[in-house]
Amino acid sequence: MSPFRITRTLPEDATEAALRADVLHGLTATPKTLPPKWFYDARGSELFEQITGLPEYYPTRAEREILIDRAGDIAAAAGARTLVELGSGSSEKTRHLLDALTGLRVYLPVDVSESALVRAGQALAAERPGLRVHALIADFTRELELPETPGPRLVAFLGGTIGNLLPAERAAFLGAVRAMLAPGDALLLGTDLVKDERVLVRAYDDAAGVTAAFDKNVLAVVNRELGADFDPAAFDHVALWNADDEWIEMRLRSRVAQTVKVPALDLAVDFAAGEELRTEVSAKFRKEGVSAELAAAGLELTRWWTDAAGRFALSLSTVR
Ligand code: AVJ
Repeated sequence: MSPFRITRTLPEDATEAALRADVLHGLTATPKTLPPKWFYDARGSELFEQITGLPEYYPTRAEREILIDRAGDIAAAAGARTLVELGSGSSEKTRHLLDALTGLRVYLPVDVSESALVRAGQALAAERPGLRVHALIADFTRELELPETPGPRLVAFLGGTIGNLLPAERAAFLGAVRAMLAPGDALLLGTDLVKDERVLVRAYDDAAGVTAAFDKNVLAVVNRELGADFDPAAFDHVALWNADDEWIEMRLRSRVAQTVKVPALDLAVDFAAGEELRTEVSAKFRKEGVSAELAAAGLELTRWWTDAAGRFALSLSTVR
């Protein structure tokens, strides 16, 4: 069994303070919004795992196909001795990369979920003698301070989660990633691609209703954490394609006029009948756009791989 360490850079109460600030800001804004990161309590993470197996939700399978087919190419191009994985979750897809990166010494998974980090990190450390696993509990959208580890480093941000950030947030995030890379290091980025609107909408509004339950789970999180009295049954799940911004939006539409109380914030929120609360943006990309956003952050796209059907891309970029 090789060493497993876990370091917390997030104060215990930071999550609660951030949730309060986000809910106060989002529910008093016009139109109303909530950030998608609050979907992922234990129930939300379980629902997301179910989503990844749905026939309509292709991104996880498409990305896994690329990782399986191209892990050797990625490893050869990156030659990494440290793999940093942002938003590592269950580290399930990462196994293909870990197998291919023959010179790897350190795996540094970074996530806000301590339970996911401990489970995945301990299993990997047990399976892979010689690999140091150092898990970091951190919100990588806020701060990205990494321990000293051997280079070259490969920073992986998989799953298409960068699409959950708005354009200005993406620019700030890529700038922060650029700042942690030295010459010879690389970023491996997963991006879902623009495609037929019906395929996209179905991926976010599945027949079994799992995505609807996932969407409404954010209301249960606010109820539990802030004492709110959202009735999930009083909202309908909506998924739509925003063609101007080229992103999917998930919304919760109030079925009736209602007032929701959020005692922890001393807040009462009025919803008109039919009023919508935006819960997620999931941007879809084109190669030129990814390349331009990377370039604006001081990164150069050097490799681009897609699945056979051209639905999803992994890109590799280096410091310019
Ligand atoms: C985990 C952020 C990549 O945007 O496709 C799945 C989350 N939302 N179904 C995505 C999600 C609705 C997912 N990411």
